[in-house]
Amino acid sequence: MKATTAPTSWLHTTVGRKVVMALTGLFLMTFLVVHLGGNLLLLRGDGGAAFNAYAEFMSTNPAIRILEILLFAGFILHIYQGLYFILREKKSRPKGYALNNASANTSIFARTMRISALVVLVFLLVHLRHFFVEHRILGTPMTMYESCKRAFENPYYSAFYVGSMVLLAFHLAHGFYSSFQTLGLVINRRIERWIRWGAAIFAFVVPLGFAIIPLYFLVKTL
Ligand code: HEM
Repeated sequence: MKATTAPTSWLHTTVGRKVVMALTGLFLMTFLVVHLGGNLLLLRGDGGAAFNAYAEFMSTNPAIRILEILLFAGFILHIYQGLYFILREKKSRPKGYALNNASANTSIFARTMRISALVVLVFLLVHLRHFFVEHRILGTPMTMYESCKRAFENPYYSAFYVGSMVLLAFHLAHGFYSSFQTLGLVINRRIERWIRWGAAIFAFVVPLGFAIIPLYFLVKTL
């Protein structure tokens, strides 16, 4: 008989791992709202004064620095658990089911979770390289506003952002609902309807808000 290894702790069980994904997912969604709020200062038309002041505060305030460490830990845990489930499913079902009518059972957002996750991950790496590494590690003399303006005046870079936000919307449309479901909060039909509406609104409004920023700079170049 094949020996199976028992999980060493609750965190290593399927439920434990799903709860970690749900909690980190909710934490990252909260970050997205705060991040969007700050980034929308780019649209104030004040030559970047408010946005640069905000960026300066965010990069120097000690409490924010601690939150930043938690944020990176949240991203790493979320990605790690996601990869674990993908690899485990691949191992246990290498050829897929013979009878698999996925489109009848799940939404397009649920079925595209892996591809949306991959695109958001690539986006994040490019994004961090462009802003975080450039400013915090390499110490470019440009202000944060100048960096954004220069980047988004490039139509290819802006298109990459807008395209990534479409996939982010897909990821959030399923992720938002799924986190509440995993945490056992979908307790009746009425709450389920509310959470589904919440997911639809969140997944539409937040990526749209981010996508407007590159489009704003691009349109200003015309
Ligand atoms: C138009 C859209 C966006 C703009 C203009 C923007 C702008 C920025 C800027 C300027 C920074 C550097 C902050 C600093 O180092 O002080 C930053 C950091 C970061 N961004 Fe974005 N961002 C956008 C969208 C996103 C999205 C959609 C995500 C997540 C999917 C994201 C995740 C992050 C993370 C994790 C950091 C590093 C954490 C931090 O330093 O605050 N950003 N972003």
